[in-house]
Amino acid sequence: MHRIRAAMLAGVLVVVTLGVVPCARAWGPEGHALVADIAQARLDPSARREVARLLAHDDDGAKTSLDEISSWADAIRAQRRKTGPWHYVDIPLDADGYDAPRDCRRGRGRRQRDVTNCVVAKLPYFVGILRDRSRPDGERLEALKWVVHLTGDIHQPLHDADDHDGGGNARVLYYNGARTNLHALWDMGIIETHYHWRLGWNFSFDHDAVRAQAAALDRQITPAQRTAWAAANLVANIDAATIAWADEGHTLARQAYARLPANYPSGWDRAYQDWAWPVVREQLQKAGVRLAAVLNQALD
Ligand code: ADE
Ligand code: ZN
Ligand code: ZN
Repeated sequence: MHRIRAAMLAGVLVVVTLGVVPCARAWGPEGHALVADIAQARLDPSARREVARLLAHDDDGAKTSLDEISSWADAIRAQRRKTGPWHYVDIPLDADGYDAPRDCRRGRGRRQRDVTNCVVAKLPYFVGILRDRSRPDGERLEALKWVVHLTGDIHQPLHDADDHDGGGNARVLYYNGARTNLHALWDMGIIETHYHWRLGWNFSFDHDAVRAQAAALDRQITPAQRTAWAAANLVANIDAATIAWADEGHTLARQAYARLPANYPSGWDRAYQDWAWPVVREQLQKAGVRLAAVLNQALD
């Protein structure tokens, strides 16, 4: 009896862990690590030195690479509930683009004028803290963790849109035979299908495999793309840049919905994957290039 109950409890825990937590996540940990690795490879000496110095001071163990902190913001989400909305911005799918009072507002009543409760506001806020060398290292390290993570999140198109479905989290579908949802598909499914990756226990993954693929993605980026994606005065104009990134993502999200076949019949996933992977790949590359530019300019 006890053993049965323990087995049932374990089953419930597995369902809770595998079924609920990933929905709340952003790019899966592999996506965030890919972005972080692309950026890490593009750091100038001065930014590289300051990043290394901050990472070495992490309370829960010294780190050496941005990929090790890239999913921290998701890991603390359950304990720090108010940070949930910082990971995305719900631009209505049928809107033309970002509108702060409509899309970034917190709560009701007196707090209604606070329009800082979304990724478009939080990313520039944490860039400001990171570049302020008068602030304590601990605060700047936490800001670095947010900047790395949110630069990834804002490049996941479904983090920039909502169709009355929690950014696609409530849009259930079957992909390659597995039950998932539109949001998770864009966080992880398209990447994992392309690379034949599967997330292990407790979100573990093969860091060496991810680092090798990040290097390959990095090599494909042309100098012309780099220049087009990140301006030399990016940090000076970070508010406008962040809005532009969210609007880009929102445009892609519209296509992500538009290309879903009616009723999601089986057999559509191959064609969707073939269209979506190059979109995801370029968003990961853009995020990596832009993260490097932000860090190079903020820590020069
Ligand atoms: N929850 C509600 N909207 C969301 C979005 N666009 N992305 C992630 N989580 C969300
Ligand atoms: Zn996130
Ligand atoms: Zn997500």
